[in-house]
Formats: sequence, structure tokens, C-alpha cells
Amino acid sequence: MTTLLVHPAAGPLSGSVPVPSDKSIGHRALLLGALCEGDTRITGFSHGEDNVSTANALRAMGVVIDEPSPTELLIHGKGLDGLSAPASDLDCGNSGTTMRLLCGVLSSRRFRATLVGDETLSRRPMLRVAGPLRTRGARLTGRPHPTREGELLAPLVVGPLPEGAALGPHEHDSPVASAQVKSALLLSGLRAAGATRIREPSVSRDHTERLLSALGCPVRAVGSIVELDPSGWDGRMPAFDMAIPGDASAAAFLIVAAQLVEGSRVTVRDVGANPTRTGLLEIARDMGAGLSLEPQGERGGEPVAILHAWSAPLRAARVGGETVPRAIDEIPIACALAARASGTTRIRDAEELRHKESDRIATMATVLRAFGVECAEQPDGLDIEGHAGPLRAADVDSRGDHRIAMTAAVLGLVAAGPTRIRDAACIATSFPKFVATLRGLGARVDVEP
Ligand code: S3P
Repeated sequence: MTTLLVHPAAGPLSGSVPVPSDKSIGHRALLLGALCEGDTRITGFSHGEDNVSTANALRAMGVVIDEPSPTELLIHGKGLDGLSAPASDLDCGNSGTTMRLLCGVLSSRRFRATLVGDETLSRRPMLRVAGPLRTRGARLTGRPHPTREGELLAPLVVGPLPEGAALGPHEHDSPVASAQVKSALLLSGLRAAGATRIREPSVSRDHTERLLSALGCPVRAVGSIVELDPSGWDGRMPAFDMAIPGDASAAAFLIVAAQLVEGSRVTVRDVGANPTRTGLLEIARDMGAGLSLEPQGERGGEPVAILHAWSAPLRAARVGGETVPRAIDEIPIACALAARASGTTRIRDAEELRHKESDRIATMATVLRAFGVECAEQPDGLDIEGHAGPLRAADVDSRGDHRIAMTAAVLGLVAAGPTRIRDAACIATSFPKFVATLRGLGARVDVEP
């Protein structure tokens, strides 16, 4: 179990750095590349463990994925109907996106597949995907939750759909804004007899819709309603080339680090700037952060920008409503901004955080208190009192949650002494070069095996 020792920053952070390829877009490029006809080339791929889980699951179903260079993948697509039965369980590792999106892809197949995950993933709710998929005819079973009646946990067994049967049309009014639920349903809809229509309470990330649309699939979005109607469509998707943009969720840690460490100036290159992912930038701006965005056009249908961040005095803000789904993975690092802002930041409408890699409301409350920051846990968020002066040097446990580990590392830069972050190997799920990147900006971070 890796432990990080983060030293207080001895001076400003400075430099221009890249971030890993976007994890969400990576999953979709892999899955759809496998369902296309011909060879799809993905460049700028960073091999975060979550994306590797998706690639390996596809390989186990007969998809050949070559790696012509360390950052390139060549996916030999098998067509929409071409996946074959896996010989063993599909290991989704820590990746909720892998498990939930695969449920969608697999629910219309004539074979059975078992999806397993690590300890953390095996605690996460799967009924949100299994429920609507079952309603449209999928066979999907799982392990009953020990305390929450009706809830399903991994391992999940999907399929087979009986010979001659097809998934039916489906209209889903989602109680939560979840791109994983939306994407699982859209992917199941590619082979369904009838339309898939999803309505979310507000818009979640739209990478699936963008890529499907670029591949000629009959998908349409109006506000937070998405519809896919395959009637009259031949089900063929052409192979594609895609340079994956940098991960906005990874960039968030560096942007916030630049706010916290006085005098810092940090540039993050080639970052995805899809508006369904930019909630953190808006929250940071509201808090007075030093931040500018230089648009760089589009890549594979996704907007890309260079982000410039510099330290500035921060003030408390109220975070809630439709911003939350667009910043859902960045709420932990937004808590780090709040910890250094003058006043009380109130975060609400973020109950979904309780169902992430850890219960991020409870875990962040523990982490903030370890650093001497006062906070109050709410059912759907946190109240955080800004703390002037150095934070208390902390000893924290990530609870296996990569975003908690990285948030604690950023807070450690403004602590009064070295901060120890235990169980930090999970950082590799999304940002394998996190420590090297922080060091490149001037931070001192030791890694203890
Ligand atoms: C993701 C969607 C979000 C996000 C996750 C990645 C995706 O989850 O938290 O890290 O790639 O679709 P939900 O759909 O559960 O909100």
C-alpha cells in the first residue's frame, strides 16, 4: 500500500503541464471502437487503470486491441453484433463506468457474462442501471445489498437474451443526473427494437451522445432529454480516429493547487472543455480564483482548451443545483478551495457523492478535519469554514478513493508540516503521473512503498 508524504510548498508552483487523457471519453472511445467496423485509432491514451479495465474486458470478448506506441491504441472493431462470450469473469477493477456501461452493451447479447469489481466497486449501487435495463427485457442479476432492500451489488450476471428476443423500447425518467445510467441505456438501445428516451433532472456529461452522433447513430439531445431511435438505421458504425483530450477532472487538482500556493502560475495544456464537465471552473471563478481559458477548437467532437491558473484570494460560495452534475467528480477538490476561502462555503444537492468510490461527503469531512478545517456534514453536501494560515499537518487515509487521495495531497501543500496520505496507489486509476506532475511544478512529494 503506497503512502505519499507531501511536504509544504517551499515556493510557488510554476510550469506548463499536460494531464492524462480523459477517462470518461477513453471508456467510450474503447467501447464504441470495438462496436465499429474497421480499425479505430486512439491517440494520446494514458493507460489509467480504469480505462485499462475497459480495454481488457473487450479483449476478453474477442476484440483485438494493439498498442503500436505507448500512447496509441488500435482497436480492431467487431461491428455492433460481433462480441463473443468471455471465457471468464470480466474484471472491471475499480471502474464504475466500465461496469455500468458494459451492462448496457451486454444486455442485448445472446451470451452470459459475469462482471466483477474490486472491494470498492463491489459496494456501489447497480440497481440504477440494472433496473431500467430489466424493464426493457434484459436479464441481469446481482448480489442483494445486505441492508438496502432491492439494491443490487456486483458481481453482476448479464444475459443471455433468449434466441429471437430483443430489448424493447424504453423511456426512463432518471431520478439522478448520471451519465453512466444514461450511457448504459443508450448503448443497450443500439440493438433494441424501439426507441430509448432518457430524461435527467439536469444535464450530465454527454460524451456518449457526442461520439454516437459523430458515428452516424440516430441520437438526438434537447436539453436534458436524449433519444436514440434505431428504426431505419443499418446499425453500422464506421471506425474512427480520435486524439483524446486531457482530463478536466485531473486538471482540476492542478488548478486548485495553483490557487492555494501563493504566487503560483500553472498552465495545463490540451484539457477537455466540454461544458458538461466545467462545473469546477465555474465554482472556482465564483470563489475569485485566478483562471483563464484559451479555447483550442475541437478534437473528436469535444472542445479543448489551455487552462491558465494563478493564485488569488478566495471567498466562500454556495455550490448547488445544475452545477453539481457538471462538477460531480470535482466536489472533493472544490472542498480544498473552500478550506482556503474566507467565509463558509455551502455545498448542496450532492447526495450522489455518497455513492462514489467512497462516500465522498463523509470521507471529505474526515479529511478536512484532519487538516484542522472546520466543517459540518449535511445529507447532500458540506458546510466548510475557510481556514486562514497553514493547515494542520495531517495523516489521512484515502479509503481507496483516488480523488480523495489527490485532494489531500493538494491540501498538504499548504499545511504546517509533512502530510501523510495512506492507501494512495488508487491514484493510478485516473492520474498515473500525478506525483511526477506535482513534482514538475515544484512540489516535494515522497512515495513510501
Ligand atoms: C462518469 C460519470 C459519473 C462520474 C464518473 C464517470 C462517466 O458518474 O462520477 O466518474 O464516465 O460516465 P455517474 O454517472 O454515476 O454520475
